Amino acid sequence: MALSHSVPFETSVPEGFEIGTVLKIRGVVPSEANRFYINLLSCDKPDSDIVLHFNPRLDQSIVVMNTMECGTWGSEERVFPNVFQRGQPFELLLIAMNEHFKIVVGDSESYEFIYRLPPKRSCLLKVGGDVSLELLKIF
Ligand code: GAL
Repeated sequence: MALSHSVPFETSVPEGFEIGTVLKIRGVVPSEANRFYINLLSCDKPDSDIVLHFNPRLDQSIVVMNTMECGTWGSEERVFPNVFQRGQPFELLLIAMNEHFKIVVGDSESYEFIYRLPPKRSCLLKVGGDVSLELLKIF
């Protein structure tokens, strides 16, 4: 997929996130940023579930990860303290492993988010909020 996307950005993932699918995102956190999100949504219901909500919160210096099922948020996993910084570039890999999404930020930070919903159900990717997107690739 192409370079430099305007936000909010949305793309379909027709095959869903099969095991082995990788999403690579490179971007910059604007200097006045509060929050942004990367959501993987299911589209097998009118009221899509969120298979993965990845929500860097610059206002709290943390990333909140969660799912939404039938309109209700699950329990939050609060990860990557101080990893995303206002005014700084970042690179993120999201990899569908057997039992979890592996999220790698930069060279040394990673986290395993155990699946609550099957990754295969993720057929829509949305990125929005306070972020500038330089590269987004699914392979
Ligand atoms: C809520 C917030 C949502 C979402 C959710 C994740 O407080 O309004 O945007 O981030 O937390 O648990």
